[in-house]
Amino acid sequence: MKDRTRLIHSGQDRDPHTGASSIPIYQVSTYHQPDPEHLGPYDYGRSDNPTREALEKTLAQLEGGARGLAFASGMAATSSSLLLFQPGDHLVVGRDIYGGTYRILTTVFHRWKLDVTFVDSADPDSVRRAIRPDTRGLFVETPANPLLQITDLRAMAAIARAHGLVSIADNTFMTPFLQRPIELGFDIVVHSATKFLGGHSDLIAGAAVVREEALGRRLRAIQNAFGAILGPQDSWLVLPASRHWPSASTPSSARRTRSPAGCCYALKLAAFTSPALNNTQAMTFTCARPAAPAPSCRSSSLTGRPPSRS
Ligand SMILES: Cc1ncc(COP(=O)(O)O)c(C=O)c1O
Repeated sequence: MKDRTRLIHSGQDRDPHTGASSIPIYQVSTYHQPDPEHLGPYDYGRSDNPTREALEKTLAQLEGGARGLAFASGMAATSSSLLLFQPGDHLVVGRDIYGGTYRILTTVFHRWKLDVTFVDSADPDSVRRAIRPDTRGLFVETPANPLLQITDLRAMAAIARAHGLVSIADNTFMTPFLQRPIELGFDIVVHSATKFLGGHSDLIAGAAVVREEALGRRLRAIQNAFGAILGPQDSWLVLPASRHWPSASTPSSARRTRSPAGCCYALKLAAFTSPALNNTQAMTFTCARPAAPAPSCRSSSLTGRPPSRS
Protein backbone atom coordinates (compact mmCIF):
# COMPACT_ATOMS: atom_id res chain seq x y z
CA MET A 1 0.00 0.00 0.00
CA LYS A 2 1.35 3.45 -0.82
CA ASP A 3 2.24 5.72 2.10
CA ARG A 4 -0.44 8.24 1.18
CA THR A 5 -3.15 5.54 1.11
CA ARG A 6 -1.83 4.08 4.33
CA LEU A 7 -2.06 7.49 5.96
CA ILE A 8 -5.64 8.35 5.09
CA HIS A 9 -7.14 4.91 5.67
CA SER A 10 -5.37 3.88 8.82
CA GLY A 11 -7.50 4.51 11.88
CA GLN A 12 -8.72 7.87 10.67
CA ASP A 13 -10.83 7.16 7.62
CA ARG A 14 -13.98 8.04 9.58
CA ASP A 15 -15.27 7.84 13.11
CA PRO A 16 -16.64 4.29 13.48
CA HIS A 17 -19.06 5.44 16.20
CA THR A 18 -20.76 8.37 14.45
CA GLY A 19 -19.58 8.25 10.83
CA ALA A 20 -17.98 11.68 11.27
CA SER A 21 -15.43 12.16 8.53
CA SER A 22 -13.00 13.68 11.03
CA ILE A 23 -12.24 11.73 14.20
CA PRO A 24 -13.79 13.72 17.08
CA ILE A 25 -12.12 14.47 20.40
CA TYR A 26 -13.78 12.13 22.87
CA GLN A 27 -13.19 14.20 25.99
CA VAL A 28 -14.43 11.62 28.46
CA SER A 29 -13.17 9.66 31.46
CA THR A 30 -15.90 7.13 32.26
CA TYR A 31 -18.33 5.21 30.07
CA HIS A 32 -21.73 3.90 31.13
CA GLN A 33 -22.11 0.15 30.93
CA PRO A 34 -25.37 -1.55 30.01
CA ASP A 35 -24.50 -4.55 32.17
CA PRO A 36 -21.92 -4.53 35.00
CA GLU A 37 -20.96 -8.11 34.25
CA HIS A 38 -20.41 -7.58 30.53
CA LEU A 39 -18.51 -4.39 29.95
CA GLY A 40 -18.64 -2.64 26.59
CA PRO A 41 -15.51 -1.88 24.55
CA TYR A 42 -14.89 1.32 26.56
CA ASP A 43 -15.09 1.55 30.32
CA TYR A 44 -12.45 4.02 31.54
CA GLY A 45 -10.39 6.61 29.69
CA ARG A 46 -7.01 5.40 30.90
CA SER A 47 -7.77 2.01 29.36
CA ASP A 48 -9.42 3.13 26.12
CA ASN A 49 -10.41 6.29 24.34
CA PRO A 50 -11.71 6.36 20.75
CA THR A 51 -9.57 9.36 19.74
CA ARG A 52 -6.40 7.79 21.14
CA GLU A 53 -7.41 4.49 19.57
CA ALA A 54 -7.64 6.11 16.11
CA LEU A 55 -4.14 7.53 16.56
CA GLU A 56 -2.80 4.23 17.84
CA LYS A 57 -4.18 2.38 14.80
CA THR A 58 -2.59 4.98 12.53
CA LEU A 59 0.76 4.61 14.29
CA ALA A 60 0.64 0.82 13.96
CA GLN A 61 -0.13 1.06 10.25
CA LEU A 62 2.58 3.61 9.60
CA GLU A 63 5.33 1.70 11.38
CA GLY A 64 4.09 -1.68 10.11
CA GLY A 65 3.48 -3.18 13.55
CA ALA A 66 0.68 -5.17 15.13
CA ARG A 67 -0.07 -2.59 17.80
CA GLY A 68 0.47 1.12 18.30
CA LEU A 69 0.30 2.87 21.66
CA ALA A 70 0.17 6.60 22.36
CA PHE A 71 1.84 7.97 25.47
CA ALA A 72 1.98 11.24 27.36
CA SER A 73 5.55 11.91 26.18
CA GLY A 74 8.44 10.29 24.38
CA MET A 75 9.97 9.46 27.74
CA ALA A 76 6.71 7.83 28.83
CA ALA A 77 6.84 5.63 25.70
CA THR A 78 10.49 4.73 26.35
CA SER A 79 10.03 4.16 30.09
CA SER A 80 6.92 2.06 29.60
CA SER A 81 8.79 -0.06 27.03
CA LEU A 82 11.68 -0.51 29.50
CA LEU A 83 9.16 -1.78 32.05
CA LEU A 84 8.89 -4.89 29.89
CA PHE A 85 12.19 -5.93 31.48
CA GLN A 86 12.70 -7.27 35.00
CA PRO A 87 15.04 -6.24 37.80
CA GLY A 88 18.29 -8.16 37.19
CA ASP A 89 18.00 -8.04 33.39
CA HIS A 90 20.91 -6.68 31.40
CA LEU A 91 20.45 -4.32 28.44
CA VAL A 92 22.87 -3.27 25.72
CA VAL A 93 22.22 0.36 24.77
CA GLY A 94 23.75 2.59 22.11
CA ARG A 95 26.08 5.17 23.64
CA ASP A 96 24.78 7.99 21.44
CA ILE A 97 21.20 8.30 22.68
CA TYR A 98 18.89 11.07 23.81
CA GLY A 99 20.07 12.43 27.20
CA GLY A 100 16.73 11.76 28.89
CA THR A 101 16.93 8.09 27.93
CA TYR A 102 20.47 7.91 29.34
CA ARG A 103 19.29 9.67 32.51
CA ILE A 104 16.35 7.39 33.19
CA LEU A 105 18.48 4.29 32.57
CA THR A 106 21.27 5.46 34.88
CA THR A 107 18.99 6.74 37.65
CA VAL A 108 15.46 5.29 37.87
CA PHE A 109 16.07 1.99 36.11
CA HIS A 110 19.49 1.66 37.74
CA ARG A 111 17.76 1.77 41.15
CA TRP A 112 15.26 -0.71 39.76
CA LYS A 113 18.24 -3.03 39.09
CA LEU A 114 18.28 -2.93 35.30
CA ASP A 115 21.93 -3.39 34.39
CA VAL A 116 22.97 -1.44 31.30
CA THR A 117 26.10 -1.53 29.14
CA PHE A 118 26.48 1.46 26.82
CA VAL A 119 28.31 0.64 23.59
CA ASP A 120 29.11 2.20 20.24
CA SER A 121 26.09 0.87 18.35
CA ALA A 122 27.66 1.94 15.04
CA ASP A 123 30.05 -0.97 15.62
CA PRO A 124 28.14 -4.30 15.57
CA ASP A 125 31.14 -6.12 17.08
CA SER A 126 31.01 -3.87 20.18
CA VAL A 127 27.35 -4.76 20.54
CA ARG A 128 28.05 -8.49 20.16
CA ARG A 129 30.88 -8.34 22.70
CA ALA A 130 28.63 -6.64 25.29
CA ILE A 131 26.00 -9.40 25.22
CA ARG A 132 25.97 -11.64 28.31
CA PRO A 133 23.88 -14.64 29.34
CA ASP A 134 21.54 -12.31 31.28
CA THR A 135 21.14 -9.79 28.42
CA ARG A 136 17.49 -9.38 27.53
CA GLY A 137 17.28 -6.23 25.44
CA LEU A 138 18.97 -4.00 22.87
CA PHE A 139 18.10 -0.30 22.60
CA VAL A 140 19.38 1.98 19.84
CA GLU A 141 18.53 5.33 18.32
CA THR A 142 19.34 6.29 14.72
CA PRO A 143 20.08 8.95 13.68
CA ALA A 144 20.87 9.56 17.33
CA ASN A 145 20.31 12.71 19.33
CA PRO A 146 22.61 14.61 19.69
CA LEU A 147 25.49 13.34 17.50
CA LEU A 148 23.34 11.96 14.64
CA GLN A 149 25.32 8.74 14.65
CA ILE A 150 23.88 6.16 12.28
CA THR A 151 23.35 2.62 13.53
CA ASP A 152 22.82 -0.29 11.16
CA LEU A 153 19.29 -1.37 12.10
CA ARG A 154 19.36 -4.59 10.06
CA ALA A 155 22.61 -5.67 11.74
CA MET A 156 21.23 -4.80 15.20
CA ALA A 157 18.00 -6.69 14.56
CA ALA A 158 19.96 -9.75 13.42
CA ILE A 159 22.13 -9.66 16.56
CA ALA A 160 19.06 -9.27 18.77
CA ARG A 161 17.30 -12.17 17.05
CA ALA A 162 20.34 -14.42 17.33
CA HIS A 163 20.51 -13.82 21.10
CA GLY A 164 16.76 -13.76 21.81
CA LEU A 165 16.79 -10.06 22.82
CA VAL A 166 13.89 -7.64 22.65
CA SER A 167 15.07 -4.93 20.25
CA ILE A 168 13.91 -1.34 20.63
CA ALA A 169 14.66 1.52 18.23
CA ASP A 170 14.01 5.19 18.89
CA ASN A 171 12.82 6.41 15.49
CA THR A 172 12.07 10.00 16.54
CA PHE A 173 14.35 11.69 14.06
CA MET A 174 13.16 9.81 11.00
CA THR A 175 9.44 9.11 11.54
CA PRO A 176 7.90 6.03 9.89
CA PHE A 177 7.64 8.12 6.77
CA LEU A 178 11.39 7.79 6.27
CA GLN A 179 12.54 4.73 8.18
CA ARG A 180 10.65 1.70 9.50
CA PRO A 181 12.72 -0.25 12.00
CA ILE A 182 10.08 -2.99 12.31
CA GLU A 183 10.44 -3.74 8.60
CA LEU A 184 14.18 -3.99 9.26
CA GLY A 185 13.60 -6.57 11.99
CA PHE A 186 13.03 -4.60 15.23
CA ASP A 187 10.48 -5.59 17.87
CA ILE A 188 9.53 -2.15 19.19
CA VAL A 189 9.77 1.37 17.84
CA VAL A 190 9.48 4.37 20.14
CA HIS A 191 9.06 8.05 19.31
CA SER A 192 9.08 11.40 20.91
CA ALA A 193 5.94 12.46 19.01
CA THR A 194 6.68 15.88 20.46
CA LYS A 195 9.06 16.26 17.52
CA PHE A 196 8.31 15.33 13.93
CA LEU A 197 5.22 13.17 14.47
CA GLY A 198 3.51 16.13 16.15
CA GLY A 199 5.25 18.57 13.89
CA HIS A 200 4.17 21.91 15.32
CA SER A 201 5.94 22.31 18.66
CA ASP A 202 2.57 22.58 20.38
CA LEU A 203 2.33 19.31 22.32
CA ILE A 204 4.26 16.71 24.25
CA ALA A 205 3.51 13.17 23.12
CA GLY A 206 5.08 9.76 22.72
CA ALA A 207 4.44 6.63 20.71
CA ALA A 208 5.42 2.99 20.72
CA VAL A 209 4.68 0.46 18.00
CA VAL A 210 5.18 -3.24 18.56
CA ARG A 211 5.84 -5.77 15.83
CA GLU A 212 3.94 -8.71 17.34
CA GLU A 213 0.58 -8.82 19.00
CA ALA A 214 1.71 -10.85 22.04
CA LEU A 215 4.42 -8.33 23.00
CA GLY A 216 1.99 -5.53 22.05
CA ARG A 217 -0.53 -6.87 24.56
CA ARG A 218 2.14 -6.86 27.29
CA LEU A 219 3.08 -3.25 26.53
CA ARG A 220 -0.57 -2.27 26.36
CA ALA A 221 -1.08 -3.81 29.83
CA ILE A 222 1.84 -1.67 31.09
CA GLN A 223 0.37 1.41 29.40
CA ASN A 224 -2.92 0.81 31.20
CA ALA A 225 -1.36 -0.08 34.54
CA PHE A 226 1.36 2.59 34.58
CA GLY A 227 -1.07 5.13 33.13
CA ALA A 228 1.18 7.40 31.08
CA ILE A 229 -1.42 7.71 28.31
CA LEU A 230 -1.83 10.48 25.74
CA GLY A 231 -4.98 12.56 26.36
CA PRO A 232 -7.72 12.83 23.72
CA GLN A 233 -6.96 16.44 22.82
CA ASP A 234 -3.30 15.76 22.10
CA SER A 235 -4.15 12.49 20.34
CA TRP A 236 -6.41 14.50 18.06
CA LEU A 237 -3.63 17.03 17.40
CA VAL A 238 -1.18 14.31 16.34
CA LEU A 239 -3.75 12.60 14.07
CA PRO A 240 -4.05 15.23 11.31
CA ALA A 241 -0.31 15.73 11.57
CA SER A 242 0.23 12.29 10.15
CA ARG A 243 -2.42 12.86 7.47
CA HIS A 244 -0.65 15.95 6.18
CA TRP A 245 2.83 14.56 5.92
CA PRO A 246 2.77 13.70 2.23
CA SER A 247 1.83 17.22 1.19
CA ALA A 248 4.34 18.80 3.50
CA SER A 249 7.54 18.09 1.70
CA THR A 250 9.21 21.45 2.08
CA PRO A 251 10.11 23.56 5.08
CA SER A 252 7.63 26.28 4.06
CA SER A 253 4.71 23.86 3.77
CA ALA A 254 5.84 22.39 7.06
CA ARG A 255 5.03 25.67 8.67
CA ARG A 256 1.49 25.55 7.27
CA THR A 257 0.80 21.89 7.99
CA ARG A 258 2.04 19.45 10.58
CA SER A 259 4.88 17.71 8.86
CA PRO A 260 8.18 15.93 9.08
CA ALA A 261 10.14 18.52 7.17
CA GLY A 262 12.43 18.84 10.16
CA CYS A 263 13.47 15.26 9.69
CA CYS A 264 14.54 16.24 6.21
CA TYR A 265 17.22 18.28 7.97
CA ALA A 266 17.97 15.38 10.33
CA LEU A 267 18.44 13.16 7.31
CA LYS A 268 20.70 15.64 5.62
CA LEU A 269 22.82 15.96 8.72
CA ALA A 270 22.87 12.21 9.25
CA ALA A 271 24.05 11.78 5.68
CA PHE A 272 27.28 13.43 6.74
CA THR A 273 28.02 10.71 9.26
CA SER A 274 27.23 7.58 7.28
CA PRO A 275 25.70 8.27 3.88
CA ALA A 276 25.87 4.74 2.46
CA LEU A 277 24.20 3.10 5.43
CA ASN A 278 21.70 5.88 5.85
CA ASN A 279 20.66 5.55 2.22
CA THR A 280 19.90 1.86 2.55
CA GLN A 281 17.82 1.97 5.70
CA ALA A 282 16.17 5.39 5.34
CA MET A 283 14.76 3.87 2.27
CA THR A 284 12.42 6.13 0.46
CA PHE A 285 13.50 9.65 1.09
CA THR A 286 15.58 11.69 -1.26
CA CYS A 287 17.02 15.01 -0.26
CA ALA A 288 19.20 17.50 -1.93
CA ARG A 289 22.83 16.95 -1.01
CA PRO A 290 23.52 18.00 2.57
CA ALA A 291 25.56 20.97 1.45
CA ALA A 292 22.85 22.28 -0.90
CA PRO A 293 21.69 25.74 0.10
CA ALA A 294 17.94 25.31 -0.55
CA PRO A 295 16.66 22.06 0.95
CA SER A 296 14.03 20.26 -1.06
CA CYS A 297 12.93 16.88 0.14
CA ARG A 298 10.69 14.43 -1.60
CA SER A 299 9.68 10.97 -0.63
CA SER A 300 10.28 8.72 -3.60
CA SER A 301 7.64 6.30 -2.33
CA LEU A 302 5.11 9.08 -2.77
CA THR A 303 6.31 10.20 -6.15
CA GLY A 304 6.83 6.67 -7.41
CA ARG A 305 10.46 7.38 -8.27
CA PRO A 306 13.11 4.96 -7.10
CA PRO A 307 15.17 6.10 -4.11
CA SER A 308 18.11 8.25 -5.05
CA ARG A 309 21.56 7.30 -3.85
CA SER A 310 22.82 10.85 -4.16
C1 LIG B 1 15.39 11.04 20.21
C2 LIG B 1 14.52 11.42 21.36
N1 LIG B 1 13.89 10.43 22.05
C3 LIG B 1 13.11 10.72 23.12
C4 LIG B 1 12.91 12.03 23.53
C5 LIG B 1 12.01 12.30 24.70
O1 LIG B 1 10.79 12.80 24.23
P1 LIG B 1 9.81 13.73 25.08
O2 LIG B 1 10.50 15.05 25.27
O3 LIG B 1 8.59 13.82 24.22
O4 LIG B 1 9.55 13.03 26.38
C6 LIG B 1 13.52 13.08 22.83
C7 LIG B 1 13.32 14.47 23.24
O5 LIG B 1 13.99 15.37 22.79
C8 LIG B 1 14.35 12.75 21.72
O6 LIG B 1 14.98 13.71 21.02
